Amino acid sequence: MTTKVLRSWFTDRSRPHVIALGNQKGGVGKSTTAIHLVIGLTRLGFDVGSIDLDERQGTLSRFMRNRQRFATASGVDLPIPDNQGLYRSIHDTTSKAGEDEIARLARVLERFRHKSFVVIDIAGDNTFLSRCGHILADTLITPLNDSFLDLDALVRIDIDGQRIIGPSAYSVMVTDGSARRAAFGGGTPDWIVMRNRLSQIDSRNKQQMRALLETLAPRIGFRLAPGLSERVIYRQLFTSGLTVLDIDDPAIGFDCKPRHRAAAREIDDLLRTVGIPEPAAAEDADRQIA
Ligand SMILES: Nc1ncnc2c1ncn2[C@@H]1O[C@H](COP(=O)(O)OP(=O)(O)OP(=O)(O)O)[C@@H](O)[C@H]1O
Ligand SMILES: [Mg+2]
Repeated sequence: MTTKVLRSWFTDRSRPHVIALGNQKGGVGKSTTAIHLVIGLTRLGFDVGSIDLDERQGTLSRFMRNRQRFATASGVDLPIPDNQGLYRSIHDTTSKAGEDEIARLARVLERFRHKSFVVIDIAGDNTFLSRCGHILADTLITPLNDSFLDLDALVRIDIDGQRIIGPSAYSVMVTDGSARRAAFGGGTPDWIVMRNRLSQIDSRNKQQMRALLETLAPRIGFRLAPGLSERVIYRQLFTSGLTVLDIDDPAIGFDCKPRHRAAAREIDDLLRTVGIPEPAAAEDADRQIA
């Protein structure tokens, strides 16, 4: 059934563009980035669906519920993307669980088939649903804390931290996902590594990290995004279901400062790195798809 579902998805040339957030490391900003991409794309005028494949934690789904609640309570006309969470199956045999999970994923994909974009927040484990998320990704974004400690998400480093001795388990999972995707007719995904929680001072560590990632990029097969700084605003508005991209709206009544606009520009830069058309082109793209 998995083969049938994925082949049918990739055969459809007008399917949505899937952007997935993945990294086996926890707490690197997968959900935060997913939230900002979904709202950024929606505010650009695209019809977007989101899938929370980490529904046990449910950060993305919780954000969407908070957003709905805020809109209802405040009367502010907020764009609210269509979100669907997917729990892991409760079946205890692997084959039954896989059948159950792919059947539920297929229903969500069918519901989102006519959207322009689907954003998937993938859990940080190597499960059937996580692997499906990686196979579906036209663009895979891997957020990475800007620390040498977190590089082991991409590569294995020797005990002294001096020498790269091979790809990490996660890089192997991404490579396997790409190969399976190609076999299903999906072509090659665009893998973007995004540094997250960058310090706002230009430290030596920051420069070294950037230089090392630039060296690794062609060897491992990813490209590098400019990244997001460490900013309170990326988490501050979560309980209201808002993002830094919403607060320019006077109806929200938020005192928008230059540092907030700088944060919004970082999200715009990320969207540009992914290759999202400018707003005017977005309408044309949607018209073409309709
Ligand atoms: N650029 C940032 N600036 C400030 N805080 C951030 C930033 N990115 C993420 N955070 C915070 O770091 C924490 C972890 O982020 P997030 O939940 O997005 O990571 P995750 O990779 O989805 O984690 P998990 O693996 O547990 O699902 C959250 O409290 C989030 O608000
Ligand atoms: Mg998460």
